[in-house]
Amino acid sequence: MATFVEKICFIILILIAFQSVSAMKHSIIESKPCKRLVLYYHDILFNGTDVANATSARAANGTGLGNYQFGMLVVFNDPLTKDHHLLSPAVGRAQGFFFYDMKDDYTAWFAYTLVFNSSEHKGTLNIMGADLMYAETRDISVVGGTGDFFMARGICTFKTDTFQGANYFRLQMDIKLYEC
Ligand SMILES: *[C@@H]1O[C@H](CO)[C@@H](O)[C@H](O)[C@H]1NC(C)=O
Ligand SMILES: *[C@@H]1O[C@H](CO)[C@@H](O)[C@H](O)[C@H]1NC(C)=O
Ligand SMILES: *[C@@H]1O[C@H](CO)[C@@H](O)[C@H](O)[C@H]1NC(C)=O
Ligand SMILES: *[C@@H]1O[C@H](CO)[C@@H](O)[C@H](O)[C@H]1NC(C)=O
Repeated sequence: MATFVEKICFIILILIAFQSVSAMKHSIIESKPCKRLVLYYHDILFNGTDVANATSARAANGTGLGNYQFGMLVVFNDPLTKDHHLLSPAVGRAQGFFFYDMKDDYTAWFAYTLVFNSSEHKGTLNIMGADLMYAETRDISVVGGTGDFFMARGICTFKTDTFQGANYFRLQMDIKLYEC
């Protein structure tokens, strides 16, 4: 008799566990993030003389494999603004790097932290993934956060807002968090 009761309890436990796992999965709806931030990222690549204005620099040159800067590594500490004006007040910084990683087109791989220290937000969000630059929008993972963004996860959608030669580009980063 005891074993029968044990078996029933075991089956009930399994059912409860299964239901809570499927409930967690269903609670994430792509169109309903728990927090959303739209920020503009401005990258001014150091050209050897513009020390006062540059916000990023080449740390390694392209390798010559193909014509798309394969292997070029850029380290950045870029301002983030709420609208697309470079001179708008920065609400945070994007600190990290990207490198180009395709020999027959431009694609890059990003890993960086958004650092916030304002009255609105304090904390960080860590973002990494492939930037398939030929696509109009690219989804990159938000893999974690600290402070106001403790344990956050989500998706950051990149959209190239402007690209002015080698020295300045601007991305729209549409950050949608699904765990807040
Ligand atoms: C670097 O950029 C600055 C500002 O745009 C410009 O005045 C300067 O001529 C550039 N220097 C080189 C070497 O291209
Ligand atoms: C550097 O940025 C300032 C504004 O922050 C701007 O007035 C100046 O023209 C820029 N200098 C160059 C060389 O682009
Ligand atoms: C990259 O190559 C350019 C010439 O094409 C050179 O001026 C520059 O110093 C190199 N930078 C690095 C980090 O090797
Ligand atoms: C954040 O801002 C406060 C107030 O401006 C300043 O005291 C503090 O040092 C800053 N912290 C960091 C990590 O920059």
